[in-house]
Amino acid sequence: MSTERDERLRWIYESQDPDDLRERYDVWAADYDSDLDGLKWSAPQAAAERCDHFAAPGTELLDAGCGTGLVGVALAALGRHRIVGFDLSPGMLTKSAGRGVYAELCQGSLLERLPFDDGRFGCVVAVGVFTVGHVDGSAFAELARVTTGGGHVVIAFRDDVVDRLGYRVAQQRMIDDGRWELGEVTEPLALLNEDGDDVPMRVWTWRVL
Ligand SMILES: C[S@@+](CC[C@H](N)C(=O)[O-])C[C@H]1O[C@@H](n2cnc3c(N)ncnc32)[C@H](O)[C@@H]1O
Repeated sequence: MSTERDERLRWIYESQDPDDLRERYDVWAADYDSDLDGLKWSAPQAAAERCDHFAAPGTELLDAGCGTGLVGVALAALGRHRIVGFDLSPGMLTKSAGRGVYAELCQGSLLERLPFDDGRFGCVVAVGVFTVGHVDGSAFAELARVTTGGGHVVIAFRDDVVDRLGYRVAQQRMIDDGRWELGEVTEPLALLNEDGDDVPMRVWTWRVL
């Protein structure tokens, strides 16, 4: 039986363009945390843990597509405090602001040039952003640009979208262009549960060159 949460998820995935997606997230912001709780969403914690592992102590971190701030909370629990959040949706950013863990929050699109200097961040982390109807692999270059040389980009992907949505090809293009090299890919992890089934996800980490 389809729940209200399932309906909201379908509605998000069916968005037509970034403006439409932004408006839908503005509405979903009120129910996002409880809906994701019901889906046993633990990708924020898993990605934050890899980000903390790779990032030099005290370095600035970018939470790209921060949403309601679940990654920021996980990073703060690991003792990280210089966290910048970036998101398309003002409604989601308002929720992030309420967490009190971000040093700075910024509204914009990952599909455009980011409002950050080259090499500003020691690590960029993105969770739930590179997925159906959201952000395609053309955004990887900007994530690498704002990461310091030798720093890392950490992204959680569902296994079932890596090839289907062209992310693997875009990742490889970044390697071929000398922008980053693969640092680590985790084993498949149970970070999301839909309809009682675990959805395999992995956390990928690239080292920026
Ligand atoms: C599934 S939520 C993930 C939020 C958070 N990272 C988490 O793990 O709970 C996806 C987020 O990506 C944001 N988003 C979607 N497209 C975006 C874009 N083009 N630029 C920036 N943020 C975007 C949405 O507004 C939303 O907050």
